[in-house]
Amino acid sequence: MTKTQVFTSVDALQNYLSEAASQRSVGFVPTMGALHLGHISLVREAQRKCDIVVVSIFVNPTQFNDSNDLEQYPRTLDADVELLEKNADCVVFAPSVREMYPENHLPTKVDLGKVGEVLEGSFREGHFDGVVEVVYRLFDVVRPNSAFFGEKDFQQLVVIRKMVETLDLGIDVVGCPIYREPSGLAASSRNQRLSNQEKEDALVLYHSLLEVKRRTHEMTPKEAKLFVENQLEKSPLELEYIEFIDATSFENVTEWKENTQACIAAYCGSVRLIDNMSMG
Ligand code: PAJ
Repeated sequence: MTKTQVFTSVDALQNYLSEAASQRSVGFVPTMGALHLGHISLVREAQRKCDIVVVSIFVNPTQFNDSNDLEQYPRTLDADVELLEKNADCVVFAPSVREMYPENHLPTKVDLGKVGEVLEGSFREGHFDGVVEVVYRLFDVVRPNSAFFGEKDFQQLVVIRKMVETLDLGIDVVGCPIYREPSGLAASSRNQRLSNQEKEDALVLYHSLLEVKRRTHEMTPKEAKLFVENQLEKSPLELEYIEFIDATSFENVTEWKENTQACIAAYCGSVRLIDNMSMG
């Protein structure tokens, strides 16, 4: 097991990379920490594709529209580094807010169009502007060849692809499948805040999407929406949205297509959970 190096300053990371990464490909996995096996699956994919892997751990204040959520977000750097050390060969970049956003920092803005406006974009105002701001800044620091994002945050992955294309960054954005716990619950840092009972309750998300996927031949998307709303109403969770969208345009669909994606968000107690599934 090799010791994982942790850099907290931009200069230190860039000094390291200027030597270690010359002539070698750099894979980058941005995270907000509280790492779980979903994050590890991204790091492993990065290791498969690249010579050097950088994992960033930074709870980005500019993407939280709810100050309570930001405050409650788990911060577990020591455990994160330990988990990485056990599972991967990588270096960690764990900057402070000041290091990421120095006084002269100007946020980068990208016109995201429809994909930035619906679903997460409409329920979490300013969220994707904050994601674009931090990921652009991280890309500028790390200068990766490839960057790895989870399909767990399906809309975020599309937003990042759009940013890379619009700004012509020349970075290969790799989407990685959702890692689920054996129960089917999508792994998430926020699951740490759920009791065992709540974890069981939260399975209604996965189960209802799966049920719709199995029964698309007997329901229209409109009926499927009612079905999921009904399932959630019978559960302790509070539904925020369930939409069936075209995975490229993010328009709602009226009939099933190969690229129809179900996207759902709901509160389990005070914890906001999201999930999604391809209906194709
Ligand atoms: P975070 O929620 O920590 O997630 C970091 C990366 O891990 C994201 O690409 C996310 O989609 C992926 N991920 C999380 N849970 C996963 C799962 N169960 N299966 C597969 N991948 C999973 O997403 C963010 O942080 C932030 O918005 C960030 C991109 C770091 C910008 O601050």
